[in-house]
Amino acid sequence: MNSQAQLLPLGDFKPADEWQTHVNEIFYGIQGPGIHNHFQTYVSQDHRLAHALAKDYFEQARKRTNNAQPRFIMEWGVGNGNLAGSFLSHLQSIDTEGQVYPHTRYILCDFSMEILKGARDNSRLKNHAGKFFTIQIDANYMDCFRDQTVDKIISNEIWDDLATKVLLKQDDSLFEEYLQPLIDPDAVGMNFDKFIKLFNEKNLDSLKHCPQVLPLIFWERTYQRVDIDDWPRAEVLQAHVDRLENETPVPINLGALATLERARKLLSDDGLGYTGMDYGMHSLQELNFSGRPYFNLYGGQYTFMVNFELLGDWARATGYSSVEKEYQHRYVGKHLQDRVISMVELVQTHRDAPDMPPWDRDILMLKTLHALNKAYQSPYESRMEYPAMQGTPNAQRQQITELANSLSANGVPDTVAYVSEKEVNQVSADLAGLGYEERHYTPLFQGPVEPISFVVMNFR
Ligand SMILES: C[S@@+](CC[C@H](N)C(=O)[O-])C[C@H]1O[C@@H](n2cnc3c(N)ncnc32)[C@H](O)[C@@H]1O
Repeated sequence: MNSQAQLLPLGDFKPADEWQTHVNEIFYGIQGPGIHNHFQTYVSQDHRLAHALAKDYFEQARKRTNNAQPRFIMEWGVGNGNLAGSFLSHLQSIDTEGQVYPHTRYILCDFSMEILKGARDNSRLKNHAGKFFTIQIDANYMDCFRDQTVDKIISNEIWDDLATKVLLKQDDSLFEEYLQPLIDPDAVGMNFDKFIKLFNEKNLDSLKHCPQVLPLIFWERTYQRVDIDDWPRAEVLQAHVDRLENETPVPINLGALATLERARKLLSDDGLGYTGMDYGMHSLQELNFSGRPYFNLYGGQYTFMVNFELLGDWARATGYSSVEKEYQHRYVGKHLQDRVISMVELVQTHRDAPDMPPWDRDILMLKTLHALNKAYQSPYESRMEYPAMQGTPNAQRQQITELANSLSANGVPDTVAYVSEKEVNQVSADLAGLGYEERHYTPLFQGPVEPISFVVMNFR
């Protein structure tokens, strides 16, 4: 990043949610499945979370007596379509008596045409031709669907993208975070005034040609005193704020909260609810954890951690009678009748991992994948793309290519994929040979200890 003195504003200071949604619309609008070059999710390659959701859906749906009519599942914010593909494939495979799958219709909703184009091309999803549909729609404007027509709604990692305001409490006063985007004019690769215009107009056709510019934006922050009396459900917010500590920025995920209200209208009376997954602060204790992060930037996209405590309060005020919250690792583990961690969490426990050059960490990851593959058997065939990063010396580049090319097609599908304690224990000798120590990775299976964790919420 160039020094701040060389940076020029792309616009004025605005409340955080305004610039956040502005830049995210551009980010998703100019990239297809290429978003996963910037971040992976627990569903973008892995199937285990999707399978847990499909099994839950199947078990609840088969209990209903009048199943012989089309039932609509909606997914909001669909990425590369892998969640939909894995969900439908698993549903089909466990529904041996054809009670649920034949009547299921899966609607993939996303505001980005590029994303939907990519999802329609997903090979796992393509096996379910005729069962799924794609609709370009903004999760903020779901009014075009009739009320009480949907059986189940699912979303993974969309809440953190949706409009979020940030509050900071100082005794009896509240302050709201404002953002301003700044950039080095020499880095935009065109006349600066022209770029400002394209950026402010969200001109996707032109900005598509310069995706490398978004990550160069520097976000300046300031706080302004605010009165929340005219914010939606002000009484729920005020009660929440009263429980917060001073001086810790707290995300108020207004977009996510609004999805709860929309889902409630769309779900039919005997519907199976809204299940949303994301990462953020599980409860008040994590919210009030001083110095915890509250936003993230990936390749230009601006995300906010989710305030799950507030989502729960909000859902109850919206009229949901059942609000459940569970750590995602525990949820997935429960379905495997085991405990799980993610591959990347395992690799991070290696004593040398923090100090390794990045290409050596890639080699360690690949060798760890090879070790786990001795115990792991995926029901799907997939080829993991693992290109060496820029700057990797030749010898390591060659080793990365060889290790990546020889990975088993039915092995661990991703570097963030879930692996079970049983699988890890089965290859503990191989892991020890790579320098891992059991005493460092075993405690991870007990569950999250950090203030930010992955959480599943169920609303009915
Ligand atoms: C972080 S990605 C997650 C993708 C996928 N669910 C996964 O977990 O891999 C967020 C997704 O939500 C979509 N999205 C973001 N904001 C949206 C909005 N306001 N309306 C509809 N889709 C949106 C993006 O296009 C993208 O597909």
